[in-house]
Amino acid sequence: MNTHTVLLAAYGLWAIAAFPFAFPSPQGVGTGADSCPSEPLNNDTWIELDLDNYLMEAAHNITPTETNNVQALAQYFGAPNFFCGLDSFCNAGQPCLPVTTSAWYILVAIQNWNQYMNSLHTAVMFATSIMSLIIPQVVNDLNPPRKNRDTPMKNMVGLISLVLGFIPWSGEMAKFGEQISNARFSASHASGRMKPTVQPDKFMIWGDVAASLGELAQDYQRAVATELKRLLDSPIDAKDGLGGLLGGGGFLGIAQNFTQADLQERVTDVITRRSIALVLQEQKAFIWRYPNGCKDYGKADVMCVDDGDSIGGKAGYRLMKPDRFKPNNANSMEEAAGLLLGKYGMTKDELFMGPVRCFINNGRQQLADPFGDNLPTNKSVDCLFNLQICDKVRGLGERNVHVRGRKSIIENCRDQGLDV
Ligand SMILES: *[C@@H]1O[C@H](CO)[C@@H](O)[C@H](O)[C@H]1NC(C)=O
Ligand SMILES: *[C@@H]1O[C@H](CO)[C@@H](O)[C@H](O)[C@H]1NC(C)=O
Ligand SMILES: *[C@@H]1O[C@H](CO)[C@@H](O)[C@H](O)[C@H]1NC(C)=O
Repeated sequence: MNTHTVLLAAYGLWAIAAFPFAFPSPQGVGTGADSCPSEPLNNDTWIELDLDNYLMEAAHNITPTETNNVQALAQYFGAPNFFCGLDSFCNAGQPCLPVTTSAWYILVAIQNWNQYMNSLHTAVMFATSIMSLIIPQVVNDLNPPRKNRDTPMKNMVGLISLVLGFIPWSGEMAKFGEQISNARFSASHASGRMKPTVQPDKFMIWGDVAASLGELAQDYQRAVATELKRLLDSPIDAKDGLGGLLGGGGFLGIAQNFTQADLQERVTDVITRRSIALVLQEQKAFIWRYPNGCKDYGKADVMCVDDGDSIGGKAGYRLMKPDRFKPNNANSMEEAAGLLLGKYGMTKDELFMGPVRCFINNGRQQLADPFGDNLPTNKSVDCLFNLQICDKVRGLGERNVHVRGRKSIIENCRDQGLDV
């Protein structure tokens, strides 16, 4: 356990843990040696000075070492004491002291990248601690009798990745509604290099979220640390080396601090919405559609819609789940629906029609997940909150074909392939 983990553990689940590093931040404009005024720290400067070329030429000139080729590069530039790594905050110093301005910009970018990787490493803990604040409350509200049922752990990876998507690598943190879309970051993230591989037999225990997530957090941190080490050790000009990551100057900027509270503000709504869906999915909740005669009498668990496919009158959509004791019965979820619309601020459209649109727009696939681990930052986007859909008449969104025979709702839904 490193010192930061200890520090975070000491803060427990409280949202006050500030980012606990003291960075030697690049000083920006005007504070370099007088004879070496520096340009603004941004990608325009990088491109103007053609630093991609400068970096690659330097990389070709150094003899690759077994480990830490980044340090070898710094040494070549004349800065032998430049050691990056986990908890090692390499410092570019001031321009011209000791290295030339062009080399200095490159070292600043490396310093920022190194800080970014350290930030990710810490933010994994922030993410799981934010999740540990949100999820137990959702479970307590929606799933009281069955606290110890579980969900595949891989569903939690996307929530951590969502939080990490807001970490600044230079300049400001992403604002609400936008996620940092650094193509290079996304590429290495998407390729799985900075994500743990979660075995399908790993589950999260809803009744013990903090402990369940602890192990995942460690795996996630290990993946980040391994990638950091790999990039420090690889030759700068190797395929998938640091040179490519720095290319374009995206990492040239001013270092930025952030706190767990900064992140929490940005991700709480999405994590809450997603958790609600996972808890309801675990209960095998579904939306039952019947084609006519809908009356909601003001009830939370029913929505009446003139949906174009209804047969005289409005079609009804009802939130239901299988009865725990009578396997062929389904119960309406009036109380849960009331919480979703009240306490959790969902609209009826989000609760009922969102999952229906997700189903129809994804080839009538149950629980379609178009996001993978790249969750949207907007809680209202279709499919983030998702439930199985069961239609009394087959062909929702296509045409109405009556199901024959006298079957219960659950039997009818099973015939349609629902897992209920
Ligand atoms: C970041 O935090 C460190 C340590 O708390 C502090 O010394 C530094 O001034 C902060 N930098 C910015 C840009 O806020
Ligand atoms: C420089 O960064 C800005 C802000 O991130 C971005 O909009 C712009 O496209 C970048 N320019 C180049 C040439 O990459
Ligand atoms: C979020 O998504 C909803 C539904 O697609 C849309 O109406 C709303 O404008 C979006 N909000 C933001 C902040 O993008």
